[in-house]
Amino acid sequence: MVVKPKIRGFICTTSHPEGCAKAVEEQIDFVKAQGPIANGPKKVLVIGSSTGFGLSTRITATFGCGADTLGVFFEKAADKKRTASAGWYQSVAFEKAAKEAGCYAKSFNGDAFTNEMKEQVIETIKSDMGKVDLVIYSLAAPRRQHPVSGEVFKSTLRPIGQTVVQKTIDTATGVISETSVEAASEKEIADTIAVMGGEDWKMWMDALKDADVLTDGATTVAYSYIGPKVTQEIYRTGTIGQAKVDLENTAAVIEKDLAALNGKAYISVNKALVTQASSAIPVMPLYINILYKVMKKYDLHEECKEQIFRLFKDRLCTEDGIVPVDDAGRIRIDDWELREDVQEEVGGMFNEITTENHDEIGDLKAYNEAFLRLFGFGYEGVDYDADVEVDRQFA
Ligand code: NAI
Repeated sequence: MVVKPKIRGFICTTSHPEGCAKAVEEQIDFVKAQGPIANGPKKVLVIGSSTGFGLSTRITATFGCGADTLGVFFEKAADKKRTASAGWYQSVAFEKAAKEAGCYAKSFNGDAFTNEMKEQVIETIKSDMGKVDLVIYSLAAPRRQHPVSGEVFKSTLRPIGQTVVQKTIDTATGVISETSVEAASEKEIADTIAVMGGEDWKMWMDALKDADVLTDGATTVAYSYIGPKVTQEIYRTGTIGQAKVDLENTAAVIEKDLAALNGKAYISVNKALVTQASSAIPVMPLYINILYKVMKKYDLHEECKEQIFRLFKDRLCTEDGIVPVDDAGRIRIDDWELREDVQEEVGGMFNEITTENHDEIGDLKAYNEAFLRLFGFGYEGVDYDADVEVDRQFA
């Protein structure tokens, strides 16, 4: 099949197997070029490991720390008419490279919210790894079926309290307009917390602890976002922000549960990046488009691989074992995004940007390139006119 991008709204429905493999290779090369990370974890479980921050975490653990990894994700294999999803191809490519490098790597494709997935993972840890010393929680999901009640929750991206008029960009045309996003109902707030809050993270950690598959001193980290004023009403004070607050509060609960093991539970607040999850959030593409431009200007630009490398090297695996955190106990790798000079400039540009001047002020071309790269398009050395085998399987 000759695979070309097919964009529908904020999703690309095709992905390129060679391009996705190249994406993984680039990340591996980046991590290797930084040199090994001392004091790193050795047996790592990444929940949400196929794309975005989770994939970079798995790559950093393996190629920076020499760790064995288990990855959990929800992706689609190819069928006769359709390519697989990008996360599928990336995970196939990752596993192959990890094994070639002599590291154990096993992947589970399915719903991380179920008890069955937790049981399968635990059985595999017992049989293949013994125990894990790091558990990363990097899920970004639109829905969750509760494993006990069976109730299905859907997450929404809405403000709380009042309708918000939000500046937004149509990334296909560059048209900038204002859309009105209605305030969430109480049920929508509760449902979003049920999907993206801390309950499932705690369920994972409870299951792992009860099965005795966590090492003494095991660490777990979940990823969160805070962001600046311009995204606040939709993000941090909106439904998703409430879920993140719930996730953040769960860290303390988990750490208490892990006390007998001297375990640690952290939140890492990461920076805004183009990922499949962030493209779906109304204000994010416009904000990120400007943020990238400013951070590049200050030579502070980072993608998932740079962010996660910094998380491991300068936060989780420090020489003295001390993990630097903010007043609320959170790891901050959004520090450069939220730097005062960066935000002052981004805020001004965000107010000024219009359909007419967006080419000068923002950088939609760079945003769209980053978006396409998520699906394996735009990599040098890949022949996008060639017929490729889209059925790629785990070895
Ligand atoms: P992503 O969309 O690239 O990755 C999400 C991962 O979750 C994928 O591996 C996907 O397969 C997996 N997943 C989704 N539903 C699943 C299910 N039911 N069962 C098993 N796996 C499932 O997202 P991204 O952006 O890397 O987000 C990861 C975390 O980082 C999220 O908590 C997000 O809020 C957080 N974050 C994202 C930021 C951004 O700008 N993209 C900024 C700061 C934090």
